[in-house]
Amino acid sequence: MDESDLARAFAEVDRADFLPPDRRADAGVDEPVAIGHGQTNSQPYTVRVMLELLDVRPGHRVLDVGSGSGWTTALLGHLVGPDGLVIGVELEPELVRFGAGNLARYGMDWTSISPAEEGVLGAPDQAPYDRILVSAAARELPSALVGQLAEGGVMVVPVGADMLRVQRGGEDIDITRHGTFSFVPLR
Ligand SMILES: C[S@@+](CC[C@H](N)C(=O)[O-])C[C@H]1O[C@@H](n2cnc3c(N)ncnc32)[C@H](O)[C@@H]1O
Repeated sequence: MDESDLARAFAEVDRADFLPPDRRADAGVDEPVAIGHGQTNSQPYTVRVMLELLDVRPGHRVLDVGSGSGWTTALLGHLVGPDGLVIGVELEPELVRFGAGNLARYGMDWTSISPAEEGVLGAPDQAPYDRILVSAAARELPSALVGQLAEGGVMVVPVGADMLRVQRGGEDIDITRHGTFSFVPLR
């Protein structure tokens, strides 16, 4: 994935389509935007950093944990293209409906948003994934999600305030740190 792939995804997936009607005027502001239920559509700068670290390629299988408004699910869908697969999971039932409705307008039938199962992190039944994006801050590295990574797979996850890039290679896990960010908690 190069800069132009990412730029195209941001240009073609309009953030305004993933905001509540009374917040659409804020789409161009580089800040998180409230989407209800104490949750946010993430700050564009942060999403860009995370997607750069994730290095998504056409055809990848991707898990989007905390799909919220559906914006990141749609951006990932654009990056993987029709030969790929993006599975969004979201804990808040009304946001599952909101995000899935927003995503449906883009007609990418290789993307979906489902309710996260209480007590189950990610979507282990459909693992492994080439890429996992986590848009809420874990207290510690979520080993359940590391276990859902394919061989060579990459996860980008905030742990506390640190943005981590986690790459799985056999039994080895390579972890690098990429700055500090503020996120709603992973529950
Ligand atoms: C920053 S928000 C939404 C980010 C989203 N990618 C977007 O741009 O709209 C993070 C979301 O993670 C959800 N969440 C928190 N813990 C979760 C979990 N264990 N499984 C799935 N979703 C979770 C929250 O309900 C919230 O909607």
